[in-house]
Amino acid sequence: MKHLISLHDITLDDINKILGLSETLKKQQKEGIQHHLLKGKTLGMIFSKSSTRTRVSFEVGMYQLGGYPLFLSSADIQLGRGETIYDTANVLSRYLDGIMIRTYKQSDVEDLAKYGSIPVINGLTDLMHPCQILADLFTIYEKKGTLKGLKLAYVGDGNNVAHSLLHGCAKVGMDIAVATPKGYECDGQIVKEAQEDAAESGSKILLTNDPVEAVADADVVYTDTWVSMGQEDEKEARIKIFTPYQVNGDLFSKAKKDAIFLHCLPAYRGFEVTEEIIDGPQSVIFDEAENRMHVQKAIMVLLMG
Ligand code: CP
Ligand code: NVA
Repeated sequence: MKHLISLHDITLDDINKILGLSETLKKQQKEGIQHHLLKGKTLGMIFSKSSTRTRVSFEVGMYQLGGYPLFLSSADIQLGRGETIYDTANVLSRYLDGIMIRTYKQSDVEDLAKYGSIPVINGLTDLMHPCQILADLFTIYEKKGTLKGLKLAYVGDGNNVAHSLLHGCAKVGMDIAVATPKGYECDGQIVKEAQEDAAESGSKILLTNDPVEAVADADVVYTDTWVSMGQEDEKEARIKIFTPYQVNGDLFSKAKKDAIFLHCLPAYRGFEVTEEIIDGPQSVIFDEAENRMHVQKAIMVLLMG
């Protein structure tokens, strides 16, 4: 593993290594055992979109590893004024030991990796959110003690989070059911890639427009905002279309009795999920958010250590 750009590009072995190291690093951090595995290393963090969790968890994680995190808003660096990815990648490779980037186009992340000479981590694009899903898998493993054979139901928009869930579940052998409204289904190429991995891992993929069918007997119920960053103009139309896909008490009752609820956050209570569910006893959203940090520390150590 040279970069973390798409979960389809890494192996099951890579994922297991990340999850295993996340467990060790989380334990060490909780016990106050110093783990300066990236002493003297610098991570550049380019943000072209807003962030709370990704920024703070990478920044604090890098600090805990003894390294230095450098926040680079695209509004402040020349990339935002039209400097090419080619030049940016070459220049930053001379200063940094790794780059985390949150941006719009997946191809910009790929180009950064292609033209630079240091590891690149995808901190979210319009197409994917791999760090989030690795943290989700780690959280599910902590709560359920296994991944293989479980069923995850994702209800809502066929977006970046849904795409990386398809990739991630297919790799680890979890069944995944995705329910989206018509016209908001997942990207065809991503589905194809997930199906390839599912054929190997034995995971079953169900794509449907029926939320009840998706949630039936699920071990994990997952949703995300109906309006992703960059889609603000579509907000009103989307709310109307997605209302039947709200995760509420009625829909959640179709899942297994001990199902857990996940949401990558930020959440919009009363829209994609009701308060009753997201703030209820089966919601593990804050453990999930915390785990972003532990998992990303493992990713950084494996790529930059
Ligand atoms: N889940 C997630 O990536 O959150 P932020 O947008 O706050 O980073
Ligand atoms: N789908 C959301 C995820 C935010 C972490 C977005 O892209 O805005």
